[in-house]
Amino acid sequence: MLLTIRNLVSAASSPNTLTSSHYLLKATFHSLIKMSKKVIIVGGHGNVSLRLTRLLTPTNAVKSVIRNPEYEADITSAGASPVLLSLEDSPVADFTAAFEGQDVVYFSAGAGGKGGEERTKKVDYEGAVKVFDAIEGVQGVKPRLILVSAIDVRDPEKIPAHYNEEDLAVSQRVRGAIPAYMHWKYEADKNLVKRDAFKWTILRPGGLTNVPGTGKASVGRTHLGVTISRDDVAKGLAVLLDRDDAAGLAIDFVGGETPIEEGIDAFIKKGETDFLG
Ligand SMILES: NC(=O)c1ccc[n+]([C@@H]2O[C@H](COP(=O)([O-])OP(=O)(O)OC[C@H]3O[C@@H](n4cnc5c(N)ncnc54)[C@H](OP(=O)(O)O)[C@@H]3O)[C@@H](O)[C@H]2O)c1
Repeated sequence: MLLTIRNLVSAASSPNTLTSSHYLLKATFHSLIKMSKKVIIVGGHGNVSLRLTRLLTPTNAVKSVIRNPEYEADITSAGASPVLLSLEDSPVADFTAAFEGQDVVYFSAGAGGKGGEERTKKVDYEGAVKVFDAIEGVQGVKPRLILVSAIDVRDPEKIPAHYNEEDLAVSQRVRGAIPAYMHWKYEADKNLVKRDAFKWTILRPGGLTNVPGTGKASVGRTHLGVTISRDDVAKGLAVLLDRDDAAGLAIDFVGGETPIEEGIDAFIKKGETDFLG
């Protein structure tokens, strides 16, 4: 951006000013339009969401849905505006009102295993469906949705063709350890993929860690049992902001060696979703 401003200043002081400045201004205007979006993050105080917020706020207008007013200072100091709503207690209409005029809704909320299966169902499934319904309720152009789900969320009977013995063992172990989580995430994703009233993309990370991000990942048709840093998940979510051509795709996302932007671009070009039903 600094470079662009410098270019503009130097073009404006050159003899051929009108034409060069005109084109540079036009290019800057178009890149600003592309860069600056209105974004709302549901689950805004989450570990991934706060990282995402910090990535987005320098160039986008970010709102953050939280249910606890004590988090407001964290949200404002990350450069976003807090919106107080609860996925469990607020009605769909309040979410619709919050989504009006937004370009993109991120959903990165979850019960995090607290409160047993009932609460996992309430937040990870019913809360997600509430958000889908709320987007459908927006009048006129509806925001896109970028949803965080998880790798291997699927019909347990449908085994992806690229899974090897190790994947099958990991899948079985995880399903045994957190069956309610895998089930309700699946129900939410199944509900979403049937919808065509708005554009959506699902990011499906592997187990999350707090180690520093590398800016690299393995994207699409990945193997299980590989973790990914929350920094890198936030980076993947940020890259998807400008990729409305990722609509209709569910993207497996684990640690790897491909620069994230490149991996997501290749995945979109291939156009083969990782959600197999
Ligand atoms: N952990 C993993 O290894 C893993 C792997 C794959 C995918 N994921 C998914 O990745 C996503 C982000 O993970 P994370 O580590 O960032 O999660 P996190 O830190 O637990 O954040 C989840 C957020 O959801 C919010 N939330 C819970 N109940 C809510 C409600 N009723 N209304 C509004 N917000 C509510 C929480 O707010 P409060 O603080 O107020 O409770 C919290 O800010 C989650 O969807 C998770 O399921 C996790």
